[in-house]
Amino acid sequence: MTRPRILLTRRWPDEVERALSARFDTTLNLDDHPLSAAELQQALREHDAVLPTVSDRLDARVLAVASPRARILANYGVGYSHIDVDAARAAGLTVTNTPGVLTDCTADLALTLMLMVARRAGEGERELRAGRWRGWRPTHLVGSRLSGKTLGIIGMGRIGQAVAMRAQHGFGMKVVFQNRSRLGPAQLGTLQATQLERVEDVLAQADFVSLHCPGGGANRHLIDASRLAAMQPHAFLINTARGDVVDEQALVEALQAGRLAGAGLDVYEAEPQVHPGLLALENVVLLPHLGSATGETRVAMGMRVVDNLIAFFDGRTPPDKVA
Ligand code: 8YV
Repeated sequence: MTRPRILLTRRWPDEVERALSARFDTTLNLDDHPLSAAELQQALREHDAVLPTVSDRLDARVLAVASPRARILANYGVGYSHIDVDAARAAGLTVTNTPGVLTDCTADLALTLMLMVARRAGEGERELRAGRWRGWRPTHLVGSRLSGKTLGIIGMGRIGQAVAMRAQHGFGMKVVFQNRSRLGPAQLGTLQATQLERVEDVLAQADFVSLHCPGGGANRHLIDASRLAAMQPHAFLINTARGDVVDEQALVEALQAGRLAGAGLDVYEAEPQVHPGLLALENVVLLPHLGSATGETRVAMGMRVVDNLIAFFDGRTPPDKVA
């Protein structure tokens, strides 16, 4: 029996590549270069499954490839706004993602950014490493505390809730949030969080705003100049969701004008490019899309893809089918 031909667009953890190679006729991207549109189209023409990541732009033009062999895009990651799902469906492709397994690590990273930006950790480390530290003094690099402050969450899905739990139970923060659908006590469990109607309502109350909604579509520039102006001037913006949720130019202008205390970012509008205005600001913490980057989680994400592919090629509905 011939084994399905699958292609991984990037290097994955060894044990996942081995698990895939044991079951499927697997093409690896040995030098781990980001695939071009032409290479993605070739992959779609020559393989039964393509396994993309956030670094692959699978838009309508790429997916309009003539006579594709591929029948499934098994995405490595929970967010899939880099895939035009309608175009994929039209091309007869099933799309799957990897929910659940990266919730805790992404929530941890949101807290990392909150602490780093509020406690000026990046600034301090840069100063020390540059040999500019002149010793302890009461007024040196004084930041803001998290305890007792209000955290505003935009998008109260799994990751938003995990951030809220950490903030509330770990730091004694008050939590307010906005979410498309109404969440009841059954979903919120032990979390004491207040759902507010509008994004603006959350922005007006929060000392920290953390974004946890999907990217793309209607959420593009959800946080634009007017919403940044609705935040309190002492507030911090944290983004571990998708870069396009924030109008980066407007964020730079708000920060430069001192209309915001700072920002902690893990995602950017044009990754891996980062707006030069952000790079120049001391009150911004910039991480290179590390939300899910732990050994345990990256393996778990890969194994989730393995499960989706096995189900698909066995003729069952993959557990994480999104389209
Ligand atoms: C992933 C992420 O590393 O899963 C997601 O949506 O943002 C990241 O944690 C990346 O997207 C992998 O494709």
